[in-house]
Amino acid sequence: MMSSPPASDKQMTFFPLLILCIVLISASSVNAQQTNPLASDPRAARAGGVIFRAQCATCHGADAKGINSIDAPDLTLLWTQAGVTENRVFDQIKQGVPGSIMPAHDFPDTEIWMLVSYLRSVAVAGSTLAFTGNRENGRTLFVNNCSECHRLGNSGGSLGPNLSNITSTRSQAALRNAVREPSDSLRNGYKPISLRTSDNSNVLGIIKSEDAFSIQIMDNKQRLRGFVKSELISSRRDIASLMPEFSAQQLSDAQLDDILSFLNQWR
Ligand code: HEC
Ligand code: HEC
Repeated sequence: MMSSPPASDKQMTFFPLLILCIVLISASSVNAQQTNPLASDPRAARAGGVIFRAQCATCHGADAKGINSIDAPDLTLLWTQAGVTENRVFDQIKQGVPGSIMPAHDFPDTEIWMLVSYLRSVAVAGSTLAFTGNRENGRTLFVNNCSECHRLGNSGGSLGPNLSNITSTRSQAALRNAVREPSDSLRNGYKPISLRTSDNSNVLGIIKSEDAFSIQIMDNKQRLRGFVKSELISSRRDIASLMPEFSAQQLSDAQLDDILSFLNQWR
């Protein structure tokens, strides 16, 4: 009877359509995340490698082995972590890692799956089997030499970083080097500093935060302390790590293996 329906009737037909669209879109993205649709296509890993070198290598390295100084993890060890799935890696790439410099990536899903395929292709196979030391011995060595400065779970000191999970983000070579030559790669957030304070005493510590006027450190007795910069007599940053170097005389290669095997239990 009416030549054009009232506005409310138009909305009645429009809304179900809109809802259908939303349902379809969300269903397709859920599907897209269930398995890598490119898993069986060898070209996907190669294309992913090209994207990786252009977009990710500045932080994770051209070989995906990570860059210690900025805390970007070794992605060849990604798949050795407990509970890791392709979906989770997809989400981490897409959404980034909150609270870190790992950015979100607004790429088409297909390109993210190509990156997942690439990361699969560079995975270190069986690296979980490579920890052959004696864990019990490692525990004793860790308690006697390391836990004063390093936490595992909830216990231990905090001058150095928490080492829970460290074997899934660093290669064994990097870990060995961190123990033998700590000053080679100073971890971000744990940079050492030496201060001469207004009362002419020397304080060694780790920089926790600073602005133009003040600096907060954890001193080598693990006390948090703040200083006004203008009141300091001097400060030096080009100093060695506050972690002692453990030479092979102090800690044999076999003993270091034991410690790494013990740490590997904390992944
Ligand atoms: C600006 C530096 C930066 C860029 C660029 C970057 N990442 Fe990251 N990424 C990081 C850092 C740092 C972390 C560690 C975050 C954390 O857990 O604190 C990380 C974590 C990750 C993780 C999780 C690792 C794990 O062990 O859980 C994946 C996967 C990842 N990045 C993949 C990529 C890919 C793929 C790209 C390129 C598309 C990329 N990243 C680009 C810095 C970066
Ligand atoms: C006196 C304190 C102290 C002791 C003792 C100590 N560390 Fe450290 N450790 C640190 C500090 C501070 C850092 C961070 C600065 C750096 O990277 O050198 C660090 C860094 C590390 C790193 C590098 C972490 C990373 O993210 O790459 C590893 C691995 C490590 N320590 C293992 C050990 C082990 C194993 C022992 C015992 C054999 C040990 N540490 C003993 C203070 C200590």
